[in-house]
Amino acid sequence: MRFDVITLFEDIIKGYCSKSIMKRAIDEGLIEVNTVNPRDYTLDKHKKVDAPPFGGTAGMVLQCQPIFDAYESIEKEDDFEFIMLTPQGEKFTQKTAVELSKKKQIILLCGHYEGFDERIRIGLKPREISIGDYVLTGGELPALCVIDSVSRNIKGVLGKEDSAEFDSFSEGIDGLLEHPHYTRPREYRGMKVPEVLLSGNHAEIEKWRLSERLKRTSSRRSDLL
Ligand code: ADE
Repeated sequence: MRFDVITLFEDIIKGYCSKSIMKRAIDEGLIEVNTVNPRDYTLDKHKKVDAPPFGGTAGMVLQCQPIFDAYESIEKEDDFEFIMLTPQGEKFTQKTAVELSKKKQIILLCGHYEGFDERIRIGLKPREISIGDYVLTGGELPALCVIDSVSRNIKGVLGKEDSAEFDSFSEGIDGLLEHPHYTRPREYRGMKVPEVLLSGNHAEIEKWRLSERLKRTSSRRSDLL
């Protein structure tokens, strides 16, 4: 899986991908993360990539030329998805992450400032994705959310023990929230690990976990049931 991120802030993407599970996945060749900076493609002599909107209002708008040229510089695989990160897009869910994990290449376009010149949408026809109903200052965090959540559904990215299969929201299981987890010590500040988890009785443990998952889902997210 190859991710190509069109961003004015390459370091944000590179920084996150240089740690922990993302780093390991890259080192093992399971994913590749490239960045492309529209500023390297602008024909403006002052290297500008944005301009004030026609018709007035505050803020700046990302211009077509640097974005079109940055997009066109990216080598495309035969099976790629082109995504624009925007609060106006379809809501990103675990189902989308699983679906995207089957692609060979994902190209992510991060906005900044007030937004994109509309002709970027008209001309490049991206799929538009929002990570939630709130507005961020740029598309880099949403792009990283997509990269992270898609990657952990690629075989080999997570160790066997923490396989994505058993996640809250995971498809094919049951869409319930996860049960609580406990680790050493058995008692901390008077709070004890539930007896059943220490019993060694795997059937009982599974029963307890399922019942906790149902309780949690109904009290926190009854919309999932
Ligand atoms: N850019 C700014 N806010 C965003 C959001 N919520 N989702 C995706 N891209 C964004």
